[in-house]
Amino acid sequence: MTTKSNRRDTIAAALSLAAASIASGTATGGTHSSEWQGKTYRRFEVGDLSGTGGLQLQQRSAQEPGPGQALIAVRAAALNYRDLMIAQGRYGQPQPPTRVPLGDGAGEVVAVGPGVTDVAPGDRVTAPHFLEWLDGDYDPAIFGADLGNTADGWLTELITLPAQSLITIPDSLSFADAAALGAAGITAWTVLQNVGQVKAGDTVLTLGTGGVSMLALQIAKMNGAKVAITSSSDDKLAVARELGADITVNYRKTPEWADAVRAATDGRGVDIVVETVGVATLSDSLSCCAPNARIGLLGSLGGQPDEPPNLMSLFLGNITLKGITSGSRRMFADLLRACDANGIQPKIGRSFSFDEARQAYEYLASARHIGKIIINI
Ligand SMILES: NC(=O)c1ccc[n+]([C@@H]2O[C@H](COP(=O)([O-])OP(=O)(O)OC[C@H]3O[C@@H](n4cnc5c(N)ncnc54)[C@H](OP(=O)(O)O)[C@@H]3O)[C@@H](O)[C@H]2O)c1
Repeated sequence: MTTKSNRRDTIAAALSLAAASIASGTATGGTHSSEWQGKTYRRFEVGDLSGTGGLQLQQRSAQEPGPGQALIAVRAAALNYRDLMIAQGRYGQPQPPTRVPLGDGAGEVVAVGPGVTDVAPGDRVTAPHFLEWLDGDYDPAIFGADLGNTADGWLTELITLPAQSLITIPDSLSFADAAALGAAGITAWTVLQNVGQVKAGDTVLTLGTGGVSMLALQIAKMNGAKVAITSSSDDKLAVARELGADITVNYRKTPEWADAVRAATDGRGVDIVVETVGVATLSDSLSCCAPNARIGLLGSLGGQPDEPPNLMSLFLGNITLKGITSGSRRMFADLLRACDANGIQPKIGRSFSFDEARQAYEYLASARHIGKIIINI
């Protein structure tokens, strides 16, 4: 039987083999010659961590996949807010200059190493950015193998990944769809399904129209919930309404947006909050919660406020507040299956080519986007 710890060991060994092979330029120990061995490919690296301008386009040599590994030709990658922070050295420990960015992506398996039976060349696959979190509860150790952060990510033409972490993409979803559903989708799914226990008739509040928020809107509607969403832009709110949003409030024009949300629920309040902005909006979010509401605190877009949030209504309303750190491979697989079964395609705001990767970062930084930003490779 495979235990959690020996699965981890296998994945850790596969990862270190991949890292060692890329760093040293030596073969990974695969015994078969491959058309990919020594093939030159291009990838972006984070460089001097000075931000978008620091990203370096480099040429590297491909290696044969080692035991337990798959070599994947990347077709699409997706950006998340944290990718900006990683490129600026502001997310956890600063990463080495050769680190390949982006935690979300999808591609086609082109070669597998010895012992790999779950996937084969030709398979369309994706992976959770926490490669070692296959199932079960959160454990901080998962940050040791975090794609685009502590492990090389998807902004590359070729990527080597542990086969155990891969998920086959359903036919109804494109490579771009699968990439878009990664971290943001898993996180929205965790808040709504695992923490929120969303059910038809619930009202869900989600803040802003970024990647997590728009996916939360789509997942909530898939479950028959009503959705309240805020934005700084009336145009973006119009798009949210097209995707089914029931209550839309411009938080720039209506600074008392929480009152507006509560009023739009006939005073009852919302059942679930997808708190993307973080502690800065927590008091407002709490103030429009119905009794027994569930809040998933997952973002930090609003930074650290001067005043601590007012938590009085937390116990007066019997409200659950839960911190969220993305989710597991199992949750990602469940999300892909649900999207396939319900014909859901994630909202993709804009796509860029591989050579336009820096522009894609700048577009994310400008916050002009709605939903996900994709880089086609
Ligand atoms: N914990 C996790 O596992 C996890 C996973 C993914 C993301 N996150 C975090 O979740 C947050 C959202 O990520 P994302 O990728 O969805 O970001 P994003 O796509 O960059 O979303 C940016 C949007 O958020 C909205 N926004 C920004 N400040 C706001 C404010 N003060 N009030 C209301 N809305 C505001 C704006 O929407 P409008 O333009 O419509 O106003 C903005 O366009 C980030 O902090 C990210 O680090 C956490």
